[in-house]
Amino acid sequence: MELFDVYPLFDIAIDHGKGCQVWDDKGQQYLDLYGGHAVISVGHCHPHYVQAMKNQLDKLGFYSNSVQNPLQKELAKRLGKASGYEDYQLFLINSGAEANENALKLSSFYNGRTRVLSLEKAFHGRTSLAVEVTNNPKIIAPINANGHVTYLPMNDLPAWEAELSKGDVCAVIIECIQGVGGIRLVNKEFMQGLRQLCDKYNTVMICDEIQCGYGRSGKFFAHQFFDVKPDMITVAKGICNGFPMAGVLIAPKFKPVYGQLGTTFGGNHLACAGAIAVLDIIENEKLVENAATVGKYLIDTLTAEMKAGKLPHVVDVRGEGLMIGIELDIPYKEPRTRLIKEEHCFTGCAGTNIIRLLPPLCLSMDEARDFIARFKRVLNA
Ligand SMILES: Cc1ncc(COP(=O)(O)O)c(C=O)c1O
Repeated sequence: MELFDVYPLFDIAIDHGKGCQVWDDKGQQYLDLYGGHAVISVGHCHPHYVQAMKNQLDKLGFYSNSVQNPLQKELAKRLGKASGYEDYQLFLINSGAEANENALKLSSFYNGRTRVLSLEKAFHGRTSLAVEVTNNPKIIAPINANGHVTYLPMNDLPAWEAELSKGDVCAVIIECIQGVGGIRLVNKEFMQGLRQLCDKYNTVMICDEIQCGYGRSGKFFAHQFFDVKPDMITVAKGICNGFPMAGVLIAPKFKPVYGQLGTTFGGNHLACAGAIAVLDIIENEKLVENAATVGKYLIDTLTAEMKAGKLPHVVDVRGEGLMIGIELDIPYKEPRTRLIKEEHCFTGCAGTNIIRLLPPLCLSMDEARDFIARFKRVLNA
């Protein structure tokens, strides 16, 4: 059997990793500024995480959601504390798309409505509702095009008010820092205005923190830059450092109903053990603070070098913490490929001309400096 060939692949097989470094099957070392698409939060193969997963597997990998699972309760408590959402409730699933799917479904159960407002260039996943709120017609199959969604421009509050005031909007869904959309940032006025409008019209406010959350922005959640509290927050990627897991943080006003939501694998023992270990490491190693410090260094240094004319083709540097977009006036393809092939450095990308940095949150200052040196060599060669 052949694989269903939907991914354009680099001809590299990553074999093992440590921190922000990975090695291929031929022994070549790479600096990882991509984190396997923002998934590696505490670093590759962190010993505390590996040991916690091994210990749990020796005891019990899985049992269903029909019995008590104290690890889920411990994770909810720890995540509430780490994020500042101690009064919220946690529903656990396995992927980002599933988190958004459940958040939208719960919103509709809550207010009985079916319309959703989403941002232009939004990406929220590939399952039915998640892909429908994603602003990319190429990945919305006819069966997913069900007319629930209106896409609106970022930071244009009057445009959002015009739709919300119709009183029929079930939910708004927002990435405060768009990832796939090219590291585009909402502003405080927009978020605070949106919060007020959602309260006024009984619309559910969902923040998709799947890529920008879990410490990546230099705050636990990116919306915490704006002093707003969403009604639901979706998380995935970094929550379990690469083992599939996701969650929806749900405000107290939503009352759970037996059987209304459910999953076979979500919140399994192994994933919970890994997610608790991730929170241990984030706290012990102050990784949210590290993302803020090293991210600021990268953004400030790249911006200064751009302004001094030392980064040919770079026209903008933006982001928060370790979620950074470097916009070029040429397609990203050649510099990004040369970064990998010549400088042995992985980065992400967005659109046609944006290089996207999403390293593990433990990126050191030395590694940040190393990246800048490699990037400059590629641009100036
Ligand atoms: C902001 C955002 N939401 C949702 C998703 C979908 O997550 P998953 O691929 O785990 O379904 C992604 C994945 O890249 C994402 O970046």
